[in-house]
Amino acid sequence: MTLNKLKIGKTETPGNLLLAPMADVTNLAFRLLCRQNGADITYTEMISADALLNENRKSLFKGLSSPQDRPFGIQLVGNSPEKLREAALFIESEYRPELIDVNMGCPAQRIIRIGCGSALLNSKTLVYEIISELTGALKTPVTVKIRILEKNEKTLELARLIEKAGASALTVHGRKAKQMYSGTSDLMAIRAVKRELSIPVIANGDIRDEESAETALDFTGCDGIMIGRAAMGNPFVFKRIRHYLETGEKLEFNRQTRQLEDFKSYIALLEEHNLSSSTNLRMHSHWFTKGLRGSRQIRGKINNLKDGEAITELIKNTSQEKY
Ligand SMILES: Cc1cc2nc3c(=O)[nH]c(=O)nc-3n(C[C@H](O)[C@H](O)[C@H](O)COP(=O)(O)O)c2cc1C
Repeated sequence: MTLNKLKIGKTETPGNLLLAPMADVTNLAFRLLCRQNGADITYTEMISADALLNENRKSLFKGLSSPQDRPFGIQLVGNSPEKLREAALFIESEYRPELIDVNMGCPAQRIIRIGCGSALLNSKTLVYEIISELTGALKTPVTVKIRILEKNEKTLELARLIEKAGASALTVHGRKAKQMYSGTSDLMAIRAVKRELSIPVIANGDIRDEESAETALDFTGCDGIMIGRAAMGNPFVFKRIRHYLETGEKLEFNRQTRQLEDFKSYIALLEEHNLSSSTNLRMHSHWFTKGLRGSRQIRGKINNLKDGEAITELIKNTSQEKY
């Protein structure tokens, strides 16, 4: 297995590793860090079409990018074809992302209660309307992210419909919405979608290291893989997987040094892009210190600090030798 090129619409990347959209995680600083570690395409967290149209400041902020953060995709969440179109046109002219993605997979109650995310998977007509409305109005390629349905045939039917409506790529998380994050991602179901479509299909779910990346690519035959949770506090996972796919060898690394350095780089990127005050650094600290020797002490100290500024100072002055 080697690292393959990926082409979505006009966007071509030398590799096929994608960072998954993750709420409160994939801000610009985190995306840049994953990219420096080898992610080929990154996605913003989901942005509500309604909130964007209401010029909600926080939502406008989520779409921000930088010249180094390319190619990137902005993910929208919504259920009205018209509002999604308006929001997407705004995004296209204001942020000029290479891709605009539609969230059709989020199983969170607060999202499905309002008929968005994975709730859309129950209505083929609406899915078709949304995607064709977007592909008809935008110059930017539209990608879609789904979960699998109860029956394989239903998933395939939906996938065909998404392709017919003009989507340029489809990401499949191999879990059903009702599973949330339990069980495992069904590679067989993802493979069936890949075999059914002509547009690129991206496999997602449980890819966390060299082996799972290789298995997902080999087994499904997918055009790319998308990594979510394994990158949280651990953007280095992209470097490991990339190296393995390119050389067949595993990268030697010192987790202790690596993770603390990545955390420091993350903090520097947050400062550089003025994101420190809008990021929940306590939450991110938890991920960046996960599994580290001495993580209990660092976390204990962090819990006693009053704000992100204090956490920043602590991490900047933390040397790995102390732990
Ligand atoms: C904290 C968190 C936030 C997420 N937010 C989003 C989101 O905004 N949009 C989306 O499509 N999926 C979201 N997801 C789902 C991921 O993109 C991905 O599909 C899922 O985590 C499975 O991939 P993984 O096993 O590599 O984590 C989120 C997942 C997590 C853990």
